[in-house]
Amino acid sequence: MDIRRLTDRLGGLAFGGDYNPEQWDEQVWKQDDELMRRARVNLTTVGVFSWALLEPEEGRYDFDWLDAHLDRLHANGVAVDLATPTASPPPWFTLAHPDALPVRPDGTRLTHGSRDTYCLTAPAYRRAARRIAGALAERYGDHPTLALWHVHNEYVTLCLCDHTAAAFRVWLRARHGSLDVLNEAWGTAFWSQRYTSWEQILPPRDSQWHRNPGQALDFSRFWSDETLAAYREQRDAIRVHSDLPVTTNLMVPGYQNLDLWAFGREVDLVAIDHYPGAPGLDAAAHAAFDADRARSIAAGAPWLLMEQGTSTVYAGGRVLAKEPGEILRHSLAHIARGSEGALFFQWRQSRAGAEQWHSAMVPHAGPDSRIFREVTAAGEAVARLGELAGSTVRAEVAVLHDSDAWWAMRVDGLPSSELDYFAALRGAHRALWDAGVTTDFAHPEQDLSRYRLVLAPALFLLTDAGAENLRHYVAAGGTLLVQHFSGMVDERLHARLGGYPAAPLREALGIRVEEYRPLRQDERITLSDGSTAGSWSESLRTEGAETLAAYTHGMLAGSPALTRHDFGRGRGWYLSTRLDDTGYAALVGHLLSEAKVSPELSGLPPGVEAVTRRAADGRSWHLLLNHRDEAVALPRPGHDLLTDGPLRELPPGGCAVLRAH
Ligand code: GLA
Repeated sequence: MDIRRLTDRLGGLAFGGDYNPEQWDEQVWKQDDELMRRARVNLTTVGVFSWALLEPEEGRYDFDWLDAHLDRLHANGVAVDLATPTASPPPWFTLAHPDALPVRPDGTRLTHGSRDTYCLTAPAYRRAARRIAGALAERYGDHPTLALWHVHNEYVTLCLCDHTAAAFRVWLRARHGSLDVLNEAWGTAFWSQRYTSWEQILPPRDSQWHRNPGQALDFSRFWSDETLAAYREQRDAIRVHSDLPVTTNLMVPGYQNLDLWAFGREVDLVAIDHYPGAPGLDAAAHAAFDADRARSIAAGAPWLLMEQGTSTVYAGGRVLAKEPGEILRHSLAHIARGSEGALFFQWRQSRAGAEQWHSAMVPHAGPDSRIFREVTAAGEAVARLGELAGSTVRAEVAVLHDSDAWWAMRVDGLPSSELDYFAALRGAHRALWDAGVTTDFAHPEQDLSRYRLVLAPALFLLTDAGAENLRHYVAAGGTLLVQHFSGMVDERLHARLGGYPAAPLREALGIRVEEYRPLRQDERITLSDGSTAGSWSESLRTEGAETLAAYTHGMLAGSPALTRHDFGRGRGWYLSTRLDDTGYAALVGHLLSEAKVSPELSGLPPGVEAVTRRAADGRSWHLLLNHRDEAVALPRPGHDLLTDGPLRELPPGGCAVLRAH
């Protein structure tokens, strides 16, 4: 889809959030109209959890109340992202279809009384979801206030019921063709797991000890495909009546039920929700991480931040508040990396109900509050950035990101509990972010030639095609860093024999890993170059590579820890342990200079983020975010769109958008 269609419709970037007027009365709606104008809200997500009101009993719809709200929003100049309410089936639905309630891995069937109480594979649920999506599209497909369709809400619910078992078997038949192939793939020759009929196969429910890893990985793949199929059914039901863009708000958390790349191909506009997992600078780094992931799965195209909190930072079982200035800074952090706006969950903080303590644009205290003042300031700022619409961000560095590798690292029985795909990805991205470099995520099998540097952290599972692609990337002149526990297994989770990683990659790296040796808990080691590390070590031989740092402890003393190999026109680096942050940052800094990658803007101190958005016609903008609590002089002053004037210095915690063209 051409994203310009949405931004043209909105007259610039999007600003707004989830709007649940059904929680309030007429007096509040009137105030909402006024406050939305004040805050420059131009897009609201409506109807996300409204199933019980929209369809009070099976097949009987009540749209009158929604008509009134859409008309009111339209009259107020606010466009609507209309959601299908399928993430929260009403009680009547689950009572009529108890088989559509989700079942946990331990076999417990959940009850209603929360949200997300559905099983995606239950035929009754799928029928009901298609029906209500179609009914909404038929009713509102031509409504003048509609700008976007929002299918469902954060597809995250897993279910291991008998419907799921049946659907899993259908998927397995299509993937493997025969039981012999499946038995071979899953290694069922061990532990007497051989299947002699399809009906014997279950989803990976709780069992006595390690569950079969092949079964677990295939189930993750199946679940993602099944979720995508459920999304497509709703999308297609909508398309019968409307040609507006359709999306779903992806949660991009530290676990993963969906193949984000596959979803990126199916939605008209990639949309994500982002809630930081720690305060301060880490929140900013986390926003950049998720924003870069969103842009990457959108294949570089603009995308949309569908939800964030005005004051929501999840950390250590608490919901921490955002500090003054962070509402704008976090919004711009996403816009800097390609988001076509900044939306929040939710417009008005609920007075009652399950999320009454979640932050909102209008807090319980009302508009006379710091939060609403900051929201209004953010709305003002976003309204000034209309000329950025449709521009995007280019990166010269990529971190490899693969759902199969991620899922593979969640199976039972891996050699260390410290192997953590998400932490490895975050670590690589963080080192690049700290260095002021914008990063893409890339799939291991995609064309990597546009990147000067590629990092491969914890790419445990790597296909033959992926290994060949990485070999080719180095041969053609790329610089590649492969980190420990990569290329260990193929797509069936079968170990690579004869030494790790996969052969084509060994050739590019000029090494052969003979033995993996997880370190003891809290064990610290020092390498010959003085850097320190923990968690993991490997016994490896160089086969053409030079050793840049060696182990100094135990039986590994003197053997290579960090290597570099000139291969073809490029260089393959291998890091066989987990360096501490300082050593890792130094290594990444070295790789960046070797690959001739410079920060987006030089001369900025740490804690000042800079990203450049570029339009197809050559215009570009530097977005600058000062995460420090002191003023920072700009190396190159420029015209700031936020203040519409020249800018020489960023105030403490302040932001700027400089025209660079
Ligand atoms: C999610 C959901 C919202 C809401 C917020 C609260 O991302 O999509 O419905 O629950 O979190 O933080």
